[in-house]
Amino acid sequence: MTKEFDNLIKEKDLVLIYLDEKRQFLAQAVSGLRMSSDLGDLDLSDIVKKPYGFVGKTHLGKDFYCLKPSTADLMMKARRTTTIVYPKDLGYLMLETAIGPGSRVIEIGTGSGALTMVLAKFVAPDGIVYSYERREDFIENARKNIERVGYAQNVEFTCVDVALKGFNQTDIDAIFIDVPEPWAIVPKAAVALKGGHHLVSWSPNVEQVKRTIEALEACSFKRTKVKEIIEREMLVRLQGVRPRERGITHTAYLIRAQKIIATT
Ligand SMILES: C[S@@+](CC[C@H](N)C(=O)[O-])C[C@H]1O[C@@H](n2cnc3c(N)ncnc32)[C@H](O)[C@@H]1O
Repeated sequence: MTKEFDNLIKEKDLVLIYLDEKRQFLAQAVSGLRMSSDLGDLDLSDIVKKPYGFVGKTHLGKDFYCLKPSTADLMMKARRTTTIVYPKDLGYLMLETAIGPGSRVIEIGTGSGALTMVLAKFVAPDGIVYSYERREDFIENARKNIERVGYAQNVEFTCVDVALKGFNQTDIDAIFIDVPEPWAIVPKAAVALKGGHHLVSWSPNVEQVKRTIEALEACSFKRTKVKEIIEREMLVRLQGVRPRERGITHTAYLIRAQKIIATT
């Protein structure tokens, strides 16, 4: 049987509307809705059933391009109530775990849900992300962000302070920690994680890394590694190609470690 592939924008698809570097919007293709920009309005009815890559015109005659949003676009365009993890850091850390479709993973804290959506995309269609957060208002915002990208069925939120209460699950395939005090979570993570599996953590400061490593050692984690990923964007122009002068210079130090089961 031949499978039919089409590349058409469907009703309710998320589409990256690109006018130029400063004007790129993640829009849901809903017939009847209009979008405004200072370079003119566009009618989203006009893009439904058009192929991705389609070039439209605003009512002022400016070209716009209908592009497929990348996973990084989905993260960076999430509505933020907190700082979020950055694609350069997450790309590396995902490959430092063994997760894939069907995995059961835990993350703390949910924050804006940027990490949650990428984890959900990785473990879909039948895996689950148990996402822990101590602020109900942050969960509500993150839930909307996850619903918007279509992975609500792969995420279960719990509102609790994990340092005090721990987790409801065991036999977890990987644990992702993005909180100011990871060391307070490590003993709880050591109980929930499967033997031999991965814990990863983000921290902006060296002092936090030091305390987290001490906690990992006390809980017998091994193969601990700390890295910083440095990214430089290139400026590409006719008169010369060189790195941009400005950009994000520091996000976080990244830790990964693996759980050992102590023998008596
Ligand atoms: C930097 S944000 C996480 C951002 C998230 N990774 C993202 O990409 O959107 C840190 C979050 O951890 C939550 N948090 C801090 N300590 C916590 C704890 N002990 N238990 C549960 N949540 C905690 C905070 O409320 C905050 O929302």
